[in-house]
Amino acid sequence: MMIRPRRNRKSAVIRDMVQETHLHAGNLIFPLFIVDGENQKTEVKSMPGIFRYSIDNLLREVESCMNLGLKAFDLFPNIEDSLKDKYATVSYQKSNLYLRAIEAVKKNFPEACVVTDVAMDPYSSDGHDGIVENGEILNDETLDILGKMALAHAESGADIIAPSDMMDGRIGYIRDVLDTNGFTNVSLMSYTAKYASAFYGPFRDALNSAPKSGDKKTYQMNPANVREALIEAQLDAEEGADFLMVKPGLPYLDVVKLLHDNFDLPIAVYNVSGEYAMLKAAAQNGWLDAERATMETLLSFRRAGASSILTYHAKEVLANGWLTR
Ligand code: PBG
Repeated sequence: MMIRPRRNRKSAVIRDMVQETHLHAGNLIFPLFIVDGENQKTEVKSMPGIFRYSIDNLLREVESCMNLGLKAFDLFPNIEDSLKDKYATVSYQKSNLYLRAIEAVKKNFPEACVVTDVAMDPYSSDGHDGIVENGEILNDETLDILGKMALAHAESGADIIAPSDMMDGRIGYIRDVLDTNGFTNVSLMSYTAKYASAFYGPFRDALNSAPKSGDKKTYQMNPANVREALIEAQLDAEEGADFLMVKPGLPYLDVVKLLHDNFDLPIAVYNVSGEYAMLKAAAQNGWLDAERATMETLLSFRRAGASSILTYHAKEVLANGWLTR
């Protein structure tokens, strides 16, 4: 045998020498859930170790992440049912919980990168990402609301706006609203290929945002499709997206790779709530080694071509020193 691949695996130093992909703190974006009130910190049952924070505690959490070198955050609001309506009106109302949270984080930590989520569902009495009329999700009428929401986020200091709604044309529409209002420097991270997935369950528990009727299959993608992601990516690129995101993560690594190989924009991936819940549940039962399973998962996203990883594991990876072992 002339060729023995095992020679390149024979010691830790050599394995390091030939390692093809790496993960560093800069790759990570930490999703954080916020609630109204003071001194709140309640764990999401289906997501052990993940909490909903009131703004005061959110700032403490952001500070402890910043000290660990974790500097990018994606915020999601839990909105009281009494504030929800058909048109998600509260989503762009001045000084609402979400806008106050963005402002507070940027004021206290100007060097933090705040990613904001644009979609109606946390504020919608229907629990959908668009306006519901006779059981149908209206596309073009929804764009106006998304534009108002995005503008409010920009005015509050958002660095990157991430539309997660999957309405057609929203990237171009939002880009235009931002530019017309002078926010040419605010970035758009598009949820380009967002699938109608079972893995969002724990997130909807965290935000109490599940659809009241029907499902999201008329706007989120069919899990069976991959070429369709190229159509979405092409549109997002033409409409001015700065990042293309794939969501969920692990079951869609082929989509991450496809977009990476076909587009020059940076690729983001969302390692969603259900993926986190599965790993935690197995680790808590002693069925998986949490550190090794988490690091292997996150490295797989880098290997497939993602530069940004939205993951609930972000803080623990740094707090436990898993990156430096
Ligand atoms: C809503 C939104 C969802 C997630 C992010 N933004 C859920 C959904 O589409 O129902 C899911 C994130 C996760 O599961 O971690 N627009």
